[in-house]
Amino acid sequence: ANAASPVDATSKDRDLQRDLVDPGERMTTNQGLLVSDDQNSLKAGLRGPTLMEDFHFREKMTHFDHERIPERVVHARGVAAHGYFESYGSATDITQAGLFSEKGKQTPMFIRFSTVAGSRGSADTPRDVRGFAMKFYTDEGVWDLVGNNIPIFFIQDAIKFPDLIHAVKPEPHNEIPQAQSAHDTFWDFASLTPEITHMLMWVMSDRALPRSLATMQGFGIHTFRFVTAEGVSSFVKFHLKPKKGIHSLVWDEAQKIAGKDPDFNRRDLFDAIERGDYPEWEFGVQVVPEEDEMKFDFDILDPTKIIPEEDVPVRMLGKIVLNRNVDNYFAETEQVAFHPGHVVPGIDFSNDPLLQGRLFSYIDTQLRRVGPNFAELPINRPVCPVHNNQRDAMARQTINKGRVSYFPNSLGNGCPAHSPEGMKAFVSYAEKIDGVKIRQRSPSFGDHFSQATLFWNSMATWEKDHIVAAISFELNMVETKAIQERVVNELLANVDGELASRVAKHIGLQVTAASKPNHGKSSPALSMDKPADAIT
Ligand code: HEM
Repeated sequence: ANAASPVDATSKDRDLQRDLVDPGERMTTNQGLLVSDDQNSLKAGLRGPTLMEDFHFREKMTHFDHERIPERVVHARGVAAHGYFESYGSATDITQAGLFSEKGKQTPMFIRFSTVAGSRGSADTPRDVRGFAMKFYTDEGVWDLVGNNIPIFFIQDAIKFPDLIHAVKPEPHNEIPQAQSAHDTFWDFASLTPEITHMLMWVMSDRALPRSLATMQGFGIHTFRFVTAEGVSSFVKFHLKPKKGIHSLVWDEAQKIAGKDPDFNRRDLFDAIERGDYPEWEFGVQVVPEEDEMKFDFDILDPTKIIPEEDVPVRMLGKIVLNRNVDNYFAETEQVAFHPGHVVPGIDFSNDPLLQGRLFSYIDTQLRRVGPNFAELPINRPVCPVHNNQRDAMARQTINKGRVSYFPNSLGNGCPAHSPEGMKAFVSYAEKIDGVKIRQRSPSFGDHFSQATLFWNSMATWEKDHIVAAISFELNMVETKAIQERVVNELLANVDGELASRVAKHIGLQVTAASKPNHGKSSPALSMDKPADAIT
């Protein structure tokens, strides 16, 4: 068992205090030997060579030599903090997940924010999506909601993810450019991938330049499922709305800050928590009853689509507060491992093909990045007990006792048994599936432009100006004219004629495609409240 005490908002903090060193402790080697001198290696004579015998030097140096683990293949640059979720009331009418079961119930949390493209040492403020990865240490197991600050995604099927990331990341021959999308490979891929258009609009908007991590919205993006204790399922989209409102930098500020203070967002989060100005979000869901799945003019399994909030309002379930900085960046922020497949009873998956692929990818990458026993690391271990028949593997922490690590068995002493019916174990929602094996996208995923137009139409004039400036800046950096032409004529012209012609003018091109009339409806709910204050 990990924690004997009941789960509350501070139970994870207590769990993490195990390794505290008392003041006045003496330095030892890793074997517990008291150290007499940690600053001089053992030499043959005052001016002689260092001796092979110097086990203390070797232990200190080899440990240092092995300090780095691979950075995340995406979202390498990140910052995290501890906090809690507090439920506003009972949501047992839509989910049996215990964290939503009663008013005032608190669940400890850890949230890691990140940029996607940059390496671990890159700046905080490039134009990029921000990761919004949440770990809920519930009393029924760990639930990870691995979201972003934009409600949709670039692609519809996870099998395209390696292509997307290879296009976004620095080019392989010269590792240029660092942490920005303005280069030929990204726009080449984008211009040949019409499903990206809606996401492009968001990424070229001020949403991709958050002024503070505390002023970003968060989204689970995919349609997930909620399931009640009675087995009734509904589809849900997760939303986080910042108490401080939504505020962004403008591009010029973002570029200057990247040079002057690459830690701008990281520092802001750390300082705010230190002075007690705790970032806070309201947490809610859009709920679509199972029988309404087909009622929309898009497919709710398509992660490039939002469900407009005018059609399905967000039901607020609680609030999230971040109130404690990490003690150790590596042990917590770097070793934390989020995985969309970490769910609890009452939360389940939909057949979104992007989500389905993610369910494989995260555990796979973490086996390499943090190793097969990553779930035992302090930041990852649940606050409820863990018992199963897994054993061994690199860096195993638990000393499992006895002869038996298999099931069924008759020799075990206290061998973990399956939970009988009636106990609240995880049972996958029994969705009826009937289909032929087929490597094809559903035609219901085919409209790539209507919601991009909806987004464009919802923008205020100044927001449109920023989008035009952003796309023009980016395309001006692209060296291949055919790519510029495809973006303008095959993507932008399908979103809005004015958008296409304004960008074309900025980059010295002609719009040759017949642009579509506006075909989305306006949605003021998408527009940001007001421009961010200028930073002096
Ligand atoms: C990492 C979000 C799509 C593979 C992350 C992180 C976030 C995130 C927030 C950083 C987690 C952290 O802070 O440690 C998303 C969202 C997606 C998406 C919201 C779409 C809606 C995908 C897809 C794949 C993928 C389709 C692959 C099929 C990865 C991998 C990592 C990662 C391999 C690194 C994880 C690690 O090393 O711990 N993603 N992602 N992501 N994502 Fe995604």
